Amino acid sequence: MTVPPLALNNGVEIPQLGFGVFQVPDAETEAAVSEALAVGYRSIDTAAIYGNERGVGQAIAKSGIAREELFVTTKLWNSDQGRETTRPAYEASLEKLGLDHVDLYLIHWPTPAADRYVETWEAMEELYDAGAVRAIGVSNFLPDHLRRIVDLGGTVPAVNQIEVHPGLHQSDVTDFGAKYDIATEAWSPLAQGGDLLGHPVIVDIAGRLGRTPAQVILRWHIQQGRIVIPKSVTPSRISENFDVFGFELTAEDLAAIDGLEAPGGAGRIGPDPAEFNR
Ligand SMILES: NC(=O)c1ccc[n+]([C@@H]2O[C@H](COP(=O)([O-])OP(=O)(O)OC[C@H]3O[C@@H](n4cnc5c(N)ncnc54)[C@H](OP(=O)(O)O)[C@@H]3O)[C@@H](O)[C@H]2O)c1
Repeated sequence: MTVPPLALNNGVEIPQLGFGVFQVPDAETEAAVSEALAVGYRSIDTAAIYGNERGVGQAIAKSGIAREELFVTTKLWNSDQGRETTRPAYEASLEKLGLDHVDLYLIHWPTPAADRYVETWEAMEELYDAGAVRAIGVSNFLPDHLRRIVDLGGTVPAVNQIEVHPGLHQSDVTDFGAKYDIATEAWSPLAQGGDLLGHPVIVDIAGRLGRTPAQVILRWHIQQGRIVIPKSVTPSRISENFDVFGFELTAEDLAAIDGLEAPGGAGRIGPDPAEFNR
């Protein structure tokens, strides 16, 4: 099975389904990523702060898969934001990954109190203009943050990677992205495997289709055009989460899942980007 590619705003293609490795210890990362690559995933999402770029790189090196068939994302950590610090941080990530470039480099959080994300974006643009990275983007940026980047008049972020799952849609952010051709990539797409997987609405749809709750939720994302990067260290789940292209949800199914959003952003699992300044 192949994952459909999604063209980013600079024409670079990203597989719509990838594999996340947040909270996977470095020593366990090679095994998890090797399993994912064997199943067929070709996009891997890591970050400097995850401390597992070496494990990702080891799995890639051992896989024998041609580099051009892979799509590797990593992220600049908050303390490395800045005009002079961005390139060295990128190079440190490349050294750990054992790669000469990544496909997508993201600013991990805006950290608005530090107010360095604009100059950091300009440093990201320099990396991109020099051909050191195939696409650049952001993560956890809210409309106010995206507006300042777009108003620079330079490179528009290819991706904004944000928390999205049935309990939290962040429609203001995804609408801004749609308007400016910034692809939305959903993190914690399964709401970290919590109660949502047992919700009767999800369980009923899964039962009717002969699918699992996780597959139904991933399908909800995919049919709305989002990129998804579910994480698992469990081989059966790694396969289960990949097998989401052989069925369709109806418009009624999508609407029923939409109805699970908690009011007022109460479904948020991770930090609020407006407040997260560590
Ligand atoms: N940019 C950011 O700030 C940010 C923040 C968070 C995450 N991310 C990225 O997004 C990726 C995904 O998010 P996430 O790891 O937070 O959460 P997630 O993918 O929504 O959920 C992962 C959790 O769900 C469990 N799970 C996975 N598949 C399952 C299935 N089919 N059935 C039941 N449980 C299942 C996993 O357990 P096992 O592993 O034990 O199987 C794990 O505990 C991360 O790995 C990371 O790459 C980015």
